Amino acid sequence: MPQKPLTTLTVEKTEGITWITFNRPEKRNAFNPTLIFEMEELLLELETDDETKVIVLTGAGNSWSAGMDLKEFFREADESPALRYRSFSSFERWAGEVLSMSRKPSIAMVNGYCFGGAFIPLCSCDLAIAAEDAVFGLSEINWGVIPGGAVAKVITDTMDIRDALYYAMTGKTFDGKRAAELKLVTYAVPREKLREETILLARQLMEKNPTVLAFTKQAIKTVRHLSHSDALEYLGAKSMALRFADRAGTRDEGIRKFIDEKEFRPGFEPVKGKDR
Ligand code: COA
Repeated sequence: MPQKPLTTLTVEKTEGITWITFNRPEKRNAFNPTLIFEMEELLLELETDDETKVIVLTGAGNSWSAGMDLKEFFREADESPALRYRSFSSFERWAGEVLSMSRKPSIAMVNGYCFGGAFIPLCSCDLAIAAEDAVFGLSEINWGVIPGGAVAKVITDTMDIRDALYYAMTGKTFDGKRAAELKLVTYAVPREKLREETILLARQLMEKNPTVLAFTKQAIKTVRHLSHSDALEYLGAKSMALRFADRAGTRDEGIRKFIDEKEFRPGFEPVKGKDR
Protein backbone atom coordinates (compact mmCIF):
# COMPACT_ATOMS: atom_id res chain seq x y z
CA MET A 1 0.00 0.00 0.00
CA PRO A 2 1.17 3.59 -0.58
CA GLN A 3 3.30 5.10 2.19
CA LYS A 4 0.98 8.00 3.01
CA PRO A 5 -2.60 7.40 4.17
CA LEU A 6 -5.06 7.69 1.29
CA THR A 7 -7.41 10.64 1.58
CA THR A 8 -9.42 10.44 -1.66
CA LEU A 9 -9.63 6.68 -2.19
CA THR A 10 -10.61 3.64 -0.21
CA VAL A 11 -9.14 0.22 -0.89
CA GLU A 12 -10.68 -3.07 0.18
CA LYS A 13 -9.25 -6.48 -0.66
CA THR A 14 -11.57 -9.49 -0.60
CA GLU A 15 -11.07 -12.91 -2.18
CA GLY A 16 -8.66 -11.72 -4.85
CA ILE A 17 -10.65 -8.61 -5.77
CA THR A 18 -9.16 -5.24 -4.91
CA TRP A 19 -11.96 -2.70 -4.77
CA ILE A 20 -10.75 0.85 -5.34
CA THR A 21 -13.40 3.42 -4.53
CA PHE A 22 -13.05 7.04 -5.64
CA ASN A 23 -13.94 8.65 -2.36
CA ARG A 24 -14.89 12.30 -2.71
CA PRO A 25 -18.66 11.83 -2.70
CA GLU A 26 -19.24 15.43 -1.62
CA LYS A 27 -17.62 16.46 -4.94
CA ARG A 28 -19.17 13.58 -6.88
CA ASN A 29 -15.69 11.94 -6.97
CA ALA A 30 -14.31 14.54 -9.36
CA PHE A 31 -10.64 13.90 -10.08
CA ASN A 32 -8.57 16.53 -8.24
CA PRO A 33 -4.74 16.49 -8.17
CA THR A 34 -4.66 14.63 -4.83
CA LEU A 35 -6.84 11.81 -6.13
CA ILE A 36 -4.83 11.68 -9.33
CA PHE A 37 -1.50 11.32 -7.49
CA GLU A 38 -2.93 8.78 -5.05
CA MET A 39 -4.30 6.66 -7.89
CA GLU A 40 -0.99 6.56 -9.72
CA GLU A 41 0.91 5.46 -6.63
CA LEU A 42 -1.74 2.88 -5.72
CA LEU A 43 -1.96 1.29 -9.18
CA LEU A 44 1.82 0.99 -9.42
CA GLU A 45 1.80 -0.69 -6.02
CA LEU A 46 -0.96 -3.14 -6.98
CA GLU A 47 0.88 -4.17 -10.13
CA THR A 48 3.11 -6.44 -8.04
CA ASP A 49 0.65 -7.18 -5.23
CA ASP A 50 0.04 -10.94 -5.09
CA GLU A 51 -3.26 -10.49 -3.23
CA THR A 52 -4.72 -8.49 -6.15
CA LYS A 53 -6.07 -10.77 -8.86
CA VAL A 54 -8.68 -8.35 -10.26
CA ILE A 55 -9.04 -4.60 -9.80
CA VAL A 56 -12.51 -3.05 -9.58
CA LEU A 57 -12.91 0.72 -9.83
CA THR A 58 -16.05 2.24 -8.38
CA GLY A 59 -17.25 5.44 -6.72
CA ALA A 60 -18.63 6.43 -3.33
CA GLY A 61 -22.18 7.77 -3.19
CA ASN A 62 -24.25 8.49 -6.27
CA SER A 63 -21.33 9.02 -8.65
CA TRP A 64 -18.61 6.97 -10.35
CA SER A 65 -16.78 10.18 -11.16
CA ALA A 66 -17.94 13.61 -12.31
CA GLY A 67 -14.74 13.86 -14.37
CA MET A 68 -11.96 16.37 -13.93
CA ASP A 69 -12.34 18.68 -10.94
CA LEU A 70 -13.39 21.97 -12.52
CA LYS A 71 -12.08 23.95 -9.56
CA GLU A 72 -8.88 22.18 -8.54
CA PHE A 73 -7.81 20.56 -11.82
CA PHE A 74 -8.88 23.37 -14.18
CA ARG A 75 -9.24 26.74 -12.45
CA GLU A 76 -6.61 26.47 -9.72
CA ALA A 77 -4.14 24.61 -11.91
CA ASP A 78 -4.48 27.37 -14.54
CA GLU A 79 -2.57 29.54 -12.06
CA SER A 80 0.10 26.93 -11.42
CA PRO A 81 1.80 25.49 -14.52
CA ALA A 82 3.83 23.08 -12.37
CA LEU A 83 0.74 21.59 -10.69
CA ARG A 84 -1.07 21.47 -14.01
CA TYR A 85 1.80 19.63 -15.67
CA ARG A 86 2.29 17.16 -12.81
CA SER A 87 -1.39 16.33 -12.39
CA PHE A 88 -2.11 16.17 -16.13
CA SER A 89 0.83 13.86 -16.86
CA SER A 90 0.12 11.68 -13.81
CA PHE A 91 -3.52 11.34 -14.90
CA GLU A 92 -2.57 10.36 -18.44
CA ARG A 93 -0.11 7.81 -17.08
CA TRP A 94 -2.37 5.92 -14.70
CA ALA A 95 -5.77 6.46 -16.27
CA GLY A 96 -4.34 5.70 -19.70
CA GLU A 97 -1.22 3.56 -19.89
CA VAL A 98 -0.88 1.92 -16.46
CA LEU A 99 -4.51 0.87 -16.06
CA SER A 100 -4.94 -0.11 -19.67
CA MET A 101 -1.87 -2.33 -19.98
CA SER A 102 -1.71 -3.53 -16.37
CA ARG A 103 -0.98 -7.20 -15.74
CA LYS A 104 -4.04 -7.11 -13.46
CA PRO A 105 -7.42 -7.37 -15.17
CA SER A 106 -9.72 -4.46 -14.37
CA ILE A 107 -13.45 -3.88 -14.22
CA ALA A 108 -15.11 -0.46 -14.04
CA MET A 109 -18.21 -0.84 -11.87
CA VAL A 110 -20.11 2.28 -12.85
CA ASN A 111 -22.51 3.04 -10.05
CA GLY A 112 -23.65 6.54 -11.04
CA TYR A 113 -22.52 9.74 -12.76
CA CYS A 114 -19.68 9.37 -15.24
CA PHE A 115 -18.62 12.54 -17.05
CA GLY A 116 -15.85 13.92 -19.22
CA GLY A 117 -12.38 12.91 -18.02
CA ALA A 118 -13.85 9.87 -16.24
CA PHE A 119 -14.25 8.30 -19.68
CA ILE A 120 -10.48 7.80 -19.76
CA PRO A 121 -10.21 5.29 -16.88
CA LEU A 122 -13.60 3.90 -17.94
CA CYS A 123 -12.25 3.03 -21.39
CA SER A 124 -8.91 1.85 -19.98
CA CYS A 125 -10.59 -0.74 -17.77
CA ASP A 126 -10.71 -4.06 -19.60
CA LEU A 127 -14.38 -4.60 -18.81
CA ALA A 128 -17.12 -2.33 -17.53
CA ILE A 129 -20.44 -3.02 -15.86
CA ALA A 130 -22.86 -0.16 -15.36
CA ALA A 131 -25.99 0.23 -13.31
CA GLU A 132 -28.80 0.58 -15.83
CA ASP A 133 -29.63 3.98 -14.36
CA ALA A 134 -26.04 5.30 -14.27
CA VAL A 135 -25.70 8.63 -16.08
CA PHE A 136 -22.98 9.26 -18.68
CA GLY A 137 -22.11 12.50 -20.41
CA LEU A 138 -19.45 14.03 -22.61
CA SER A 139 -20.21 17.40 -21.15
CA GLU A 140 -17.06 19.27 -22.22
CA ILE A 141 -19.02 21.16 -24.88
CA ASN A 142 -21.02 22.75 -22.05
CA TRP A 143 -17.85 24.06 -20.40
CA GLY A 144 -16.36 25.56 -23.54
CA VAL A 145 -13.64 22.96 -23.83
CA ILE A 146 -13.00 20.11 -26.23
CA PRO A 147 -12.93 16.48 -25.02
CA GLY A 148 -9.18 16.86 -24.54
CA GLY A 149 -6.59 15.03 -22.48
CA ALA A 150 -7.21 11.84 -24.51
CA VAL A 151 -11.00 11.82 -24.03
CA ALA A 152 -11.63 12.28 -27.77
CA LYS A 153 -9.11 9.54 -28.46
CA VAL A 154 -10.54 6.96 -26.06
CA ILE A 155 -14.13 7.52 -27.13
CA THR A 156 -13.30 7.12 -30.80
CA ASP A 157 -11.27 4.01 -29.97
CA THR A 158 -14.23 2.57 -28.05
CA MET A 159 -17.42 3.95 -29.61
CA ASP A 160 -18.65 4.25 -33.15
CA ILE A 161 -17.63 7.58 -34.70
CA ARG A 162 -21.26 8.67 -35.26
CA ASP A 163 -22.12 8.07 -31.60
CA ALA A 164 -18.93 9.74 -30.38
CA LEU A 165 -19.68 12.82 -32.47
CA TYR A 166 -23.35 12.90 -31.47
CA TYR A 167 -22.74 12.74 -27.73
CA ALA A 168 -19.65 14.98 -27.76
CA MET A 169 -21.31 17.65 -29.93
CA THR A 170 -24.65 17.73 -28.11
CA GLY A 171 -23.40 17.03 -24.58
CA LYS A 172 -26.54 14.91 -24.12
CA THR A 173 -26.50 12.46 -21.25
CA PHE A 174 -27.34 8.78 -21.61
CA ASP A 175 -28.00 5.95 -19.18
CA GLY A 176 -26.25 2.65 -18.46
CA LYS A 177 -28.53 0.71 -20.80
CA ARG A 178 -27.63 3.04 -23.68
CA ALA A 179 -23.94 2.84 -22.69
CA ALA A 180 -24.18 -0.93 -23.13
CA GLU A 181 -25.82 -0.51 -26.55
CA LEU A 182 -23.01 1.85 -27.53
CA LYS A 183 -20.49 -0.73 -26.24
CA LEU A 184 -19.02 1.92 -24.00
CA VAL A 185 -19.60 -0.59 -21.20
CA THR A 186 -19.64 -4.37 -21.50
CA TYR A 187 -23.15 -4.64 -20.09
CA ALA A 188 -25.62 -2.95 -17.80
CA VAL A 189 -27.48 -4.55 -14.93
CA PRO A 190 -30.14 -3.42 -12.46
CA ARG A 191 -28.54 -1.34 -9.73
CA GLU A 192 -29.30 -3.88 -6.98
CA LYS A 193 -27.34 -6.53 -8.89
CA LEU A 194 -24.33 -4.38 -9.73
CA ARG A 195 -21.94 -5.64 -7.07
CA GLU A 196 -23.07 -9.26 -7.35
CA GLU A 197 -22.60 -9.25 -11.14
CA THR A 198 -19.20 -7.61 -10.79
CA ILE A 199 -18.06 -10.32 -8.38
CA LEU A 200 -19.37 -12.98 -10.76
CA LEU A 201 -17.37 -11.53 -13.63
CA ALA A 202 -14.25 -11.11 -11.49
CA ARG A 203 -14.50 -14.76 -10.46
CA GLN A 204 -14.65 -15.82 -14.12
CA LEU A 205 -11.43 -13.89 -14.72
CA MET A 206 -9.78 -15.44 -11.67
CA GLU A 207 -10.42 -18.94 -13.07
CA LYS A 208 -7.97 -18.17 -15.89
CA ASN A 209 -4.22 -18.36 -15.70
CA PRO A 210 -3.20 -14.78 -14.73
CA THR A 211 -0.20 -14.62 -17.07
CA VAL A 212 -2.20 -15.84 -20.06
CA LEU A 213 -4.96 -13.38 -19.14
CA ALA A 214 -2.51 -10.45 -18.96
CA PHE A 215 -0.91 -11.36 -22.28
CA THR A 216 -4.34 -11.75 -23.89
CA LYS A 217 -5.58 -8.30 -22.91
CA GLN A 218 -2.28 -6.68 -23.81
CA ALA A 219 -2.29 -8.38 -27.21
CA ILE A 220 -5.84 -7.33 -28.03
CA LYS A 221 -5.24 -3.74 -27.00
CA THR A 222 -1.93 -3.46 -28.83
CA VAL A 223 -2.92 -4.89 -32.21
CA ARG A 224 -5.72 -2.36 -32.66
CA HIS A 225 -3.15 0.28 -33.51
CA LEU A 226 -0.91 -1.89 -35.70
CA SER A 227 -1.03 -2.71 -39.40
CA HIS A 228 -1.97 -6.29 -40.27
CA SER A 229 1.61 -7.34 -40.96
CA ASP A 230 2.96 -5.59 -37.84
CA ALA A 231 0.22 -7.29 -35.80
CA LEU A 232 1.28 -10.71 -37.08
CA GLU A 233 4.91 -10.00 -36.18
CA TYR A 234 3.96 -8.70 -32.75
CA LEU A 235 1.58 -11.58 -31.99
CA GLY A 236 4.20 -14.12 -33.02
CA ALA A 237 6.71 -12.58 -30.64
CA LYS A 238 4.12 -12.15 -27.87
CA SER A 239 3.10 -15.81 -28.21
CA MET A 240 6.71 -16.92 -27.87
CA ALA A 241 7.18 -14.62 -24.88
CA LEU A 242 4.15 -16.19 -23.21
CA ARG A 243 5.68 -19.67 -23.55
CA PHE A 244 8.50 -18.42 -21.31
CA ALA A 245 6.43 -16.23 -19.01
CA ASP A 246 3.75 -18.81 -18.21
CA ARG A 247 5.49 -20.90 -15.59
CA ALA A 248 2.40 -23.09 -15.19
CA GLY A 249 2.70 -24.28 -18.80
CA THR A 250 -1.03 -23.69 -19.33
CA ARG A 251 -0.78 -24.33 -23.09
CA ASP A 252 0.85 -27.75 -22.85
CA GLU A 253 -1.33 -28.72 -19.91
CA GLY A 254 -4.52 -27.80 -21.80
CA ILE A 255 -3.49 -29.81 -24.86
CA ARG A 256 -2.50 -32.78 -22.69
CA LYS A 257 -5.85 -32.79 -20.88
CA PHE A 258 -7.75 -32.55 -24.17
CA ILE A 259 -5.75 -34.94 -26.38
CA ASP A 260 -4.41 -37.51 -23.91
CA GLU A 261 -6.70 -37.51 -20.91
CA LYS A 262 -9.88 -36.35 -22.65
CA GLU A 263 -11.05 -34.61 -19.51
CA PHE A 264 -11.17 -31.03 -20.81
CA ARG A 265 -13.49 -29.85 -23.62
CA PRO A 266 -13.67 -26.06 -23.52
CA GLY A 267 -15.86 -26.08 -26.65
CA PHE A 268 -18.75 -27.14 -24.42
CA GLU A 269 -18.40 -24.08 -22.16
CA PRO A 270 -20.60 -21.64 -24.14
CA VAL A 271 -23.59 -24.00 -24.07
CA LYS A 272 -23.13 -24.65 -20.39
CA GLY A 273 -23.44 -21.01 -19.35
CA LYS A 274 -24.94 -17.73 -20.45
CA ASP A 275 -22.66 -14.98 -21.69
CA ARG A 276 -22.64 -13.75 -18.15
N1 COA B 1 -15.57 19.40 -10.57
C1 COA B 1 -15.60 20.02 -9.39
N2 COA B 1 -16.63 19.94 -8.54
C2 COA B 1 -17.67 19.18 -8.92
C3 COA B 1 -17.71 18.50 -10.13
C4 COA B 1 -16.59 18.63 -10.99
N3 COA B 1 -16.50 17.99 -12.17
N4 COA B 1 -18.89 17.85 -10.22
C5 COA B 1 -19.55 18.10 -9.08
N5 COA B 1 -18.82 18.92 -8.29
C6 COA B 1 -19.14 19.47 -6.97
C7 COA B 1 -20.13 20.63 -7.05
O1 COA B 1 -19.44 21.84 -7.33
C8 COA B 1 -20.71 20.59 -5.67
O2 COA B 1 -19.79 21.16 -4.78
P1 COA B 1 -20.30 22.15 -3.56
O3 COA B 1 -21.18 21.25 -2.71
O4 COA B 1 -19.05 22.57 -2.89
O5 COA B 1 -21.08 23.24 -4.22
C9 COA B 1 -20.76 19.09 -5.36
O6 COA B 1 -19.82 18.48 -6.22
C10 COA B 1 -22.09 18.46 -5.61
O7 COA B 1 -22.49 18.80 -6.92
P2 COA B 1 -24.03 18.96 -7.31
O8 COA B 1 -24.05 19.50 -8.69
O9 COA B 1 -24.73 19.72 -6.25
O10 COA B 1 -24.50 17.41 -7.25
P3 COA B 1 -25.71 16.71 -8.00
O11 COA B 1 -25.79 15.32 -7.41
O12 COA B 1 -26.94 17.54 -7.96
O13 COA B 1 -25.25 16.60 -9.53
C11 COA B 1 -23.66 16.11 -11.29
C12 COA B 1 -24.18 15.76 -9.88
C13 COA B 1 -22.46 15.21 -11.52
C14 COA B 1 -24.77 15.82 -12.31
C15 COA B 1 -23.29 17.62 -11.37
O14 COA B 1 -22.51 17.95 -10.25
C16 COA B 1 -22.53 17.98 -12.61
O15 COA B 1 -23.11 18.18 -13.68
N6 COA B 1 -21.17 18.07 -12.49
C17 COA B 1 -20.31 18.41 -13.60
C18 COA B 1 -19.96 17.17 -14.38
C19 COA B 1 -19.12 17.51 -15.59
O16 COA B 1 -19.57 18.16 -16.51
N7 COA B 1 -17.87 17.01 -15.60
C20 COA B 1 -16.97 17.16 -16.69
C21 COA B 1 -15.90 18.12 -16.38
S1 COA B 1 -14.92 18.37 -17.82
